[in-house]
Amino acid sequence: ISSKWDPRGALIVFEGLDRCGKTSQCSRLLSSLERLGHSVESWRFPDRDTGVGQMISSYLSNQSQLDDHAIHLLFSANRWEKRSLMEAKLKSGTTLIVDRYAYSGVAFSSAKGLDIEWCKAPELGLWAPDLVVYLDISPEKAAERGGYGGERYEQLEFQRKVAQSYRALSDASWKVVDATLPIGVIEAQLREMAVDCISTCQEGKSLSELWS
Ligand code: TMP
Repeated sequence: ISSKWDPRGALIVFEGLDRCGKTSQCSRLLSSLERLGHSVESWRFPDRDTGVGQMISSYLSNQSQLDDHAIHLLFSANRWEKRSLMEAKLKSGTTLIVDRYAYSGVAFSSAKGLDIEWCKAPELGLWAPDLVVYLDISPEKAAERGGYGGERYEQLEFQRKVAQSYRALSDASWKVVDATLPIGVIEAQLREMAVDCISTCQEGKSLSELWS
């Protein structure tokens, strides 16, 4: 019989502008948590491997055009198709490090001018993260890092709007980390936050749903 007191894994989400360094920090965190003996997996959204994910990928690389609402719903569907696997992993004690989640969905679509409440609605009922880490960098600094790969949203003017949307969406529970600090310093901060979060979940914190 399972109860809410079964030890479970933590759902740790990373958010930020394009080029904030999320992806490399996620892989560093994965390795260090593994070294500490945790059961942990690294996920990302969009998950481009599913059928829905392939439609998203083709949109992002400008190979297809879609109405702003339609692509928003696809990004959300891409999370819904992973919801039950996410639950199974977390309940079996595996921690998930997730590179982008519902907050990206809302921040990027509302930056296009879609109503924020409309954007939040399809995400209602997805698993709520135990920890949201925002890697904070100005759009200008992120653009200076270069390597915008030419995908649809990788433009300074748009990233400025995304930064504003994230500000509107964030709450006091988010951990904001300065993404311009040296890589090793950020890595150490993230590891400490993650380890704390994992122990809270192991102590019996129950899973909840967005938007709680
Ligand atoms: P990626 O570069 O992290 O793979 O994400 C691809 C782009 O998709 C990135 O610019 C953020 C954007 N995005 C959304 O617009 N909505 C979403 O729900 C997600 C997860 C990402």
